[in-house]
Amino acid sequence: MTRPLIIAPSILSADFSRLGAEVAAVDAAGADWIHLDVMDGHFVPNITFGPPIISAIRGSSKKIFDCHLMIAPADRYLEAFAKAGAEIITVHAEAGPHLDRSLQAIRALGCKAGVSLNPGTHESAIAHVLDRVDLILVMTVNPGFGGQAFIPAQLEKIRAIRRMVGDRPIDIEVDGGVTPETVGDVVRAGANAFVAGSAVFKGGTKDSYAANISAIRTAAEKARLAKSAA
Ligand code: DX5
Ligand code: ZN
Repeated sequence: MTRPLIIAPSILSADFSRLGAEVAAVDAAGADWIHLDVMDGHFVPNITFGPPIISAIRGSSKKIFDCHLMIAPADRYLEAFAKAGAEIITVHAEAGPHLDRSLQAIRALGCKAGVSLNPGTHESAIAHVLDRVDLILVMTVNPGFGGQAFIPAQLEKIRAIRRMVGDRPIDIEVDGGVTPETVGDVVRAGANAFVAGSAVFKGGTKDSYAANISAIRTAAEKARLAKSAA
């Protein structure tokens, strides 16, 4: 089954001094989801924001809030992220010993459950939780910072995950170094959702966001068309 193509701008690359306006701007510029990178300075070497900031910007867009938790432990904070307005909550497979429990807890809060894999983690880490997930987030950079180069070795993992998922209703999302130049490979490998931070927010204006999102979408659609024709 073909899932819709999704562009999810990561606000990590936005101007944090005017975050609400930036979220409204990427929404108006054609974002499908808003990607929120939560970092704790422990699981990843950077600190960003938590539930209060997410609540504060919730009113700036009606689009799906796609919340990527790069925190360990995650379980004790899941409810706070759900209450803040996250609709998809993604935890890392590496963030704790009880992935299956974390995924069940996310669904019990009424959210979609996502699991993310660092570049060094094998896809087998999620082989036994596939019926508990709505989204698989493949990191194509080492998490922690925006603006890093896409790691091509992850394409093989995306292909393997595509095969594992089969007909299940699961989105395969890719995060890190996604640009109009790299998105085609990611589509051909089988992903349908694309996080992009620096490639969306470069230019710093509403018009540039619209042009940047449309360039990624056009490249993704072109690759999908070529794939289905092949
Ligand atoms: C990295 C974050 C990404 C990041 C992507 O740890 O999870 O979402 O914002 O940034 P770009 O698109 O600039 O690689
Ligand atoms: Zn992310």
